[in-house]
Amino acid sequence: MTQAVSSDLAAALIAKNFSRDEAGILRVGGLPLTELAEDFGTPLFVYDAATMRRTYRALRDALAGFAAIDYSVKANPNPAVIRVFHEEGAGAEIASSAEFDAAIEAGVPPERILFAGPGKGAADLDRVVAGGIGEIHLENREEMFRVAAAGERHGVMVRVALRINPGAAAQGGAMRMGGKPSPFGFDEEAMDAAIDAVEAQAALRLVGLHLFAGTQGLKAETLLGQWAYGLGLAARIARRIGRPLETIDLGGGLGIPYFSGDAALDLGALRAGLPELTATLRADPLLAGARVVLEPGRYLTGPAGIYVARVLAVKASRGSRFVITDGGMHHHLAASGNLGQIVKRDFPLAAVVDGGGAEPAATAVVGPLCTPLDMLARAAPLPPLAEGDLVAVLQSGAYGLTASPTGFLSHPMPAELLVEGGRATAIRPRG
Ligand SMILES: Cc1ncc(COP(=O)(O)O)c(C=O)c1O
Repeated sequence: MTQAVSSDLAAALIAKNFSRDEAGILRVGGLPLTELAEDFGTPLFVYDAATMRRTYRALRDALAGFAAIDYSVKANPNPAVIRVFHEEGAGAEIASSAEFDAAIEAGVPPERILFAGPGKGAADLDRVVAGGIGEIHLENREEMFRVAAAGERHGVMVRVALRINPGAAAQGGAMRMGGKPSPFGFDEEAMDAAIDAVEAQAALRLVGLHLFAGTQGLKAETLLGQWAYGLGLAARIARRIGRPLETIDLGGGLGIPYFSGDAALDLGALRAGLPELTATLRADPLLAGARVVLEPGRYLTGPAGIYVARVLAVKASRGSRFVITDGGMHHHLAASGNLGQIVKRDFPLAAVVDGGGAEPAATAVVGPLCTPLDMLARAAPLPPLAEGDLVAVLQSGAYGLTASPTGFLSHPMPAELLVEGGRATAIRPRG
């Protein structure tokens, strides 16, 4: 069955962020992917800095007057990528000391870095506390004591925020969060006790709230509802500690279209809902001076990245066509459907060279691993392909390489390229 809509999504994404030349060759930042594949080998990740900057600026403008942006490094931790967002004005949200180091390497000042994640070990905490991190988000009681101990070891008063897992009251309207068991953060029901426990630690200074309600949110209404709820939680923390909050981190989770039928997040609708939230903030003397921050990852890097794989064989098997490529789930678990999907749906795929003359047909695109899970697309509408041709997986800039089982079957790591100003730089060499 041909997925015509998915092909429309691929075409729309190419028209928005990339281009095709008169020979039908897909270009990133003006550079033909055929040449990049030749020069740097395949498989290959290519990121377009101009798309990242454009995406960042559009979001920054939509949020202006309400929230600042800290880039969530886990989406794509390559320091060259972090640097692009830092140059645009973003801080960084990290989930390990290695991500802290990557952000520092990218030039982010330590005080602009936030650390979240449910299991922060003593060594990680020592590294970031010694390095002068801006804020650590506490997710459980044991961790609170470990952070306090790290502060004492380094003679530092550590700025912390409480990550809260919202209660059932957060359900309703457009919101689908709250009331569920979670390893992340303190349950809202236990919030007051957690606040008191943090306040009792001499080495900790409670400065804020952290709420992360979920990923891949495509509806402005849902995000606005979550953020409004977060402001309510922030007000409760401020009242309990009896002083103004300094930060209110409302999380990331802004989504991008991956599948047929996905509508892109409407930034205009988001913007339209912000005056009400800003008014709530301004009206509360304990919140009015707080720095509100969002920490998106996927939204900023996803659209800018393309995974390029070369066709090794085209096999007809009992009425189905399989295109076997050198790229697969070892580099791009998400596209194979094994990261966060219950039923596999196809990412938008395109042939790198497509003059538009040939009728697309539903094509299974598989990788080189010895498992049927290694399937980049089940039925992508693609023109006829042959050995040596190139396939592009779009929306691949976030949760690609570093969210994949790169050690499985011991293939070499692919190169990562950053395209900017008409030049491609290998920001991770192949192998
Ligand atoms: C605490 C935290 N912040 C930010 C993010 C980034 O999410 P997204 O890429 O959906 O914006 C995540 C993703 O898991 C997260 O756990």
